Amino acid sequence: MKVTVVGAGAVGASCAEYIAIKDFASEVVIVDIKEGFAEGKAMDLMQCASLNGFDTKITGSTSDYSKTAGSDVAVITSGIPRKPGMTREELIGINAGIVKDVCSNILKHSPDAIIIVVSNPMDTMAYLAHKVTGLSRNRVIGMGGALDSARFKYRLAEALECPQSDVDGMVIGGHSDVGMVPLIEKAARNSVKVSEFLSTERMQEVVEATKVGGATLTGLLGTSAWYAPGAAVSALVQAIAQDSQKMFPCSALLDGEYGLSDISIGVPCVLGKNGIERIVEVSLSDAESSKLAESAEGVRKTNGLLDSVLA
Ligand code: 2OP
Repeated sequence: MKVTVVGAGAVGASCAEYIAIKDFASEVVIVDIKEGFAEGKAMDLMQCASLNGFDTKITGSTSDYSKTAGSDVAVITSGIPRKPGMTREELIGINAGIVKDVCSNILKHSPDAIIIVVSNPMDTMAYLAHKVTGLSRNRVIGMGGALDSARFKYRLAEALECPQSDVDGMVIGGHSDVGMVPLIEKAARNSVKVSEFLSTERMQEVVEATKVGGATLTGLLGTSAWYAPGAAVSALVQAIAQDSQKMFPCSALLDGEYGLSDISIGVPCVLGKNGIERIVEVSLSDAESSKLAESAEGVRKTNGLLDSVLA
């Protein structure tokens, strides 16, 4: 499998590193506009090959998309990350134009590629990718829920004082500090609902800490996180590469599912060689449904800015 990673920044480089270490792809091409940056990151990563035991070939390219030709999957991480105090939505003015250009550059050389969008505001950038490419719904995936669910599990394990491998939880809705919907009613510790271990107050603390997980790290780091975002998107690429049929919450373009249409937002998706193999409509409580609907309104509001920022 050949994978393109657009953006040699921290997230893109972490994604490339995790893909290489998992060794399921034959080739990863990192692209960036900054002269020599992608080439340098690729060379540095390749010098880990003998140490980390992978055969994946990683190369870098400064703005030359011809080197990405024939990619099966293209990950878009390019654009600016947020600074402390910023919302993801505030990045739309700069990132929308970048994502639009990147999509056309990718498809010019890899017309069959599956696109995974990471750049923020992610749900709106994924929606933009659908609109500018016209690709079938299964071939544009937004990565947010996989990351948010990982943060949810981290907070659940912290509250339960147990290993993360003992908990399961999923976050749906928009990848936003206010719009995220951690499905706390469904979260479990080894199939036992967490409500049997945690008070209502403590569960709400877990939900709130999850929602601001990205902002918390941005406050500590001075910029957006990169390890977990890179790991999350590499897991989606792996599911496609291995036709795993694993289910992840991903930002998918909805056409009636969950009562929503013409919006990309986080819902459970089965991933495989075709990208989104199917969108899974799980049963939601009234509270979960209304939170998802509220989250969708927030995403639509950001989507509504696209025309003006792209004008
Ligand atoms: C995050 O939540 C970058 O949106 C990404 O860390």
